[in-house]
Amino acid sequence: MSDTTNQSKALGYSRYLKIQELLSLQEFRSDPPEHDEHLFIVIHQVYELWFKQMLWEFDWLISSFQAGDRAMATSTLKRMLTILKTMVGQIGVLETMTPISFLSFRNFLESASGFQSIQFREIEFICGHKRPELIQRHAEDPEACGRLQKRLDSPSVWDAFCQFLSDKGYDIPRELLERDLSQPAPESTRMQDVLLQVYRDDSDRRQVCELMVDLDEGFHEWRYRHVKMVERTIGMKMGTGGSPGAAYLQRTLFTPFFPDLWAIRSRL
Ligand code: HEM
Repeated sequence: MSDTTNQSKALGYSRYLKIQELLSLQEFRSDPPEHDEHLFIVIHQVYELWFKQMLWEFDWLISSFQAGDRAMATSTLKRMLTILKTMVGQIGVLETMTPISFLSFRNFLESASGFQSIQFREIEFICGHKRPELIQRHAEDPEACGRLQKRLDSPSVWDAFCQFLSDKGYDIPRELLERDLSQPAPESTRMQDVLLQVYRDDSDRRQVCELMVDLDEGFHEWRYRHVKMVERTIGMKMGTGGSPGAAYLQRTLFTPFFPDLWAIRSRL
């Protein structure tokens, strides 16, 4: 067999990673193409890939909790935090685009907005920020509704974490272990009592708690950097997704995913 035939059969970098397909996915809406629209498309696509990777790791984290594997949960959380740092840092790349430059193609986006990102909502749901009413917004996309519904009905990271502590013998309130998973977990003073015990007596699980706080704070950082980027790019104009824009985003800034882990700080 000749070398050329061997090469065409070999898997190789491009075929393995589907580079040709990947590089054909950046389609300008502006005509003639506006220079910065390329960056705008690429950065959103990169974020969607990171969201996908984060969901992959979230599922792994939940399985680790369910298996009682603290070492795996810890290393997974550390990886997720590293990804999150990258995600926060990438906002700076988009901030090199001036408001005027964004305006040159903004109209071509029509109603498209990160507001409609299914994976972002999946991340919120998996973190326990469950809002069943958000699913209706995607009524025209049954596949997306199915994915969101599945996340809504499945244990969140917080549910898996509570179970993990319960399996270790901690007295987790029953209403947290046997609850309607499609609703957000309620804040619980009794859960906070358990967490205080963990913080005082159990350094291994305290480390896991602190990594969960880092994760929560990391998403806050992303939201903060995103809203500041929005303010400097479009001011207080309405969003293309139809919301009041920065005013809406500011309201999302201070809702923690794991409120009990924050509440205990005043009681330590
Ligand atoms: C020039 C760049 C950007 C601008 C001006 C912008 C603007 C906005 C605005 C105004 C909203 C509120 C919803 C609406 O559209 O009415 C929003 C939401 C959102 N954007 Fe962006 N955005 C930008 C870049 C990005 C990037 C790169 C991502 C990464 C995926 C992203 C993800 C999101 C998400 C997930 C939401 C929903 C947030 C929530 O509901 O809590 N945005 N954006």
